[in-house]
Amino acid sequence: MAVQQTVDAFGSLDMAFNNAGIMLAPIDSADETEEAFDKIVGVNLKGVWASMKHQLKQMRKQGSGAIVNCSSLGGLVGGDGRTTYHATKHGVIGATKSVALQYGRHGVRCNAVCPGTIQTPMVERMTAAGELDAEALAASLALGRLGRPEEIAAAVLWLCSDAASFVTGVALPVDAGHTAQ
Ligand SMILES: NC(=O)c1ccc[n+]([C@@H]2O[C@H](COP(=O)([O-])OP(=O)(O)OC[C@H]3O[C@@H](n4cnc5c(N)ncnc54)[C@H](O)[C@@H]3O)[C@@H](O)[C@H]2O)c1
Repeated sequence: MAVQQTVDAFGSLDMAFNNAGIMLAPIDSADETEEAFDKIVGVNLKGVWASMKHQLKQMRKQGSGAIVNCSSLGGLVGGDGRTTYHATKHGVIGATKSVALQYGRHGVRCNAVCPGTIQTPMVERMTAAGELDAEALAASLALGRLGRPEEIAAAVLWLCSDAASFVTGVALPVDAGHTAQ
């Protein structure tokens, strides 16, 4: 429906950012329920898959477009207590690269952005629950601070723009050097 509404309003779907994602409280992998697994996979991986499926139908038809999927630094490294979250974010990168390979010939680029720790409600909830020491984390990063949502938006816009016309299939860390360590 969102794709059709966009086409009705603008005549084409030029770019799409698949951003929705959830993270549950950390848990020992042996104790994680199937329900929790399905919930995280359903939003983080199936959500990206389903969004791309509809976006690609339109982009294939028009012969152009750029998709960016939201992975995470968790798509590049493991995470103690976050097995399923990190598995989905690795999966997003696999799906991104595969679509990039298949759809380049249709004029469509597909990339992923891998945010570090960004000051959003998700991170505020983690900090409030004692799951994250934001100050200590910030101090450990090369840039000495957490990220702002608009710094992810800027990277996504660049990936969607003609300035990135030769970029497809990448998983771009935007993480203050977190995954460079
Ligand atoms: N904040 C971070 O530090 C960080 C780091 C790495 C990656 N990410 C990723 O960035 C993305 C955005 O996260 P955030 O930090 O803004 O989290 P957030 O919890 O602040 O916001 C998540 C957004 O996803 C939406 N959403 C959740 N489930 C949905 C569903 N089933 N259908 C439609 N929308 C749904 C929510 O309404 C909300 O707008 C997520 O994919 C997250 O995994 C965040």
